Amino acid sequence: MPATAKPAAREAAPRAPNDLQPYWMPFTANRQFKAHPRLLVAAQGLHYTSIDGRQVLDGTAGLWCCNAGHAHPRIVAAIQAQAAEMDYAPAFQMGHPKAFELAARVAALAPGDLDHVFFTNSGSEAVDTALKIAIAYHRMRGEGTRTRLIGRERGYHGVGFGGMSVGGIANNRKFFGPLLSGVDHLPHTYDRAKQAFSRGEPEWGAHLADELERIVALHDASTIAAVIVEPVACSTGVLVPPKGYLRRLREICSKHGILLIFDEVITGFGRLGTNFAVDYFGVMPDLVTAAKGITSGTVPMGAVIVRKGIYDTFMTGPDYAIELFHGYTYSGHPLACAAGLAALEVYAEEGLFEKVRALAPYWEEAAHSLKGLPHVIDIRNIGLIAAIELEPIAGQAGKRAFDAFLSAYQQGLLIRTTGDIIALSPPFTVGKREVDEIFGRLAAVLKETR
Ligand SMILES: Cc1ncc(COP(=O)(O)O)c(C=O)c1O
Repeated sequence: MPATAKPAAREAAPRAPNDLQPYWMPFTANRQFKAHPRLLVAAQGLHYTSIDGRQVLDGTAGLWCCNAGHAHPRIVAAIQAQAAEMDYAPAFQMGHPKAFELAARVAALAPGDLDHVFFTNSGSEAVDTALKIAIAYHRMRGEGTRTRLIGRERGYHGVGFGGMSVGGIANNRKFFGPLLSGVDHLPHTYDRAKQAFSRGEPEWGAHLADELERIVALHDASTIAAVIVEPVACSTGVLVPPKGYLRRLREICSKHGILLIFDEVITGFGRLGTNFAVDYFGVMPDLVTAAKGITSGTVPMGAVIVRKGIYDTFMTGPDYAIELFHGYTYSGHPLACAAGLAALEVYAEEGLFEKVRALAPYWEEAAHSLKGLPHVIDIRNIGLIAAIELEPIAGQAGKRAFDAFLSAYQQGLLIRTTGDIIALSPPFTVGKREVDEIFGRLAAVLKETR
């Protein structure tokens, strides 16, 4: 863009305050949106209010994050009080009590010796932080050749260069050059012919973890730092791991001295009815990334939870020296910490994770009741997550589900789509009545979707 373009723009007529053009929206069809805006102006409990005054049932907890429901009074009050008491404290060489308190609370929720927490501001930053810690950890131990990272096809680990590189979604990668070098990918775990309409973990597919042995043989274990996977690959359309798959990955990583990272940005903080997916599957990784639910989506925050041995490996050298040259201005931001502490209290006091566990069988039945509706070629579920996959329109991939999304929104239901897959993940405060409402409305939409 030539430097001369700017003055001309400045002389242009002033824009109306509600001009939609200047905002370049993320992961959005900007032109379609600006021609037909969908603006939300308020949120309370399980509902958004649209700008035209309609109530919209939140079938997606915002973006898989508002687990405690919207505008929970306890969380709102905590954020307000913190903003008035102390807006910000420097994150480097200084601290504030709530960051330590929240780290201790998160560590207490995490199983085993996953007991040190590094704060970030998003899932993407958590992933890039975890990858950096993994590589630096090996170097600290004198195995500096271990720099390769192994991700998985159809994985989503955010949009930083690290996360994109280990991620496996072509559109998120192909525009952005060669990405990180020294990255390889496991195959994804989905095969519709073998798994369609599975309830929970599919029976078929554990053997796909053995592909890691092939990758290790190709590169040699001495060059590999870490494997990163989402225990449940959510953003790519809810790919539930086959029974035994994650355990097998763990075994192979341990055998070859490779760190295993579980990206729990969505599954962390109760989405499966347990604190973490680690607990659900009973498989212990070395690092866990989290975000979203840590503050119930109210203030941006992410976290990397690491096992004690990893933290301890860095705690060497003179005690005045910085041990890890990494961090963000807003790591452990006071507002985020206040929101996080309040969210964890709400989860515990209202028994929201137990509620997810209790509701999961009803949720599963309701989701699978859509089998047989037009265009439905698969339904998958686990915890309080479900996906309904539609047959794509020939030559127009993604259009059928996008049309269903627009129609659902008009009918007062917020769903999320990725390609031709509809994903559902409501706040944990839903009851059976709202579950019926979600699937009832979605069934009506699907019956009319062409
Ligand atoms: C598994 C996983 N990792 C990372 C991210 C990126 O998180 P953020 O959008 O907060 O950067 C997401 C977001 O959906 C995610 O699902």
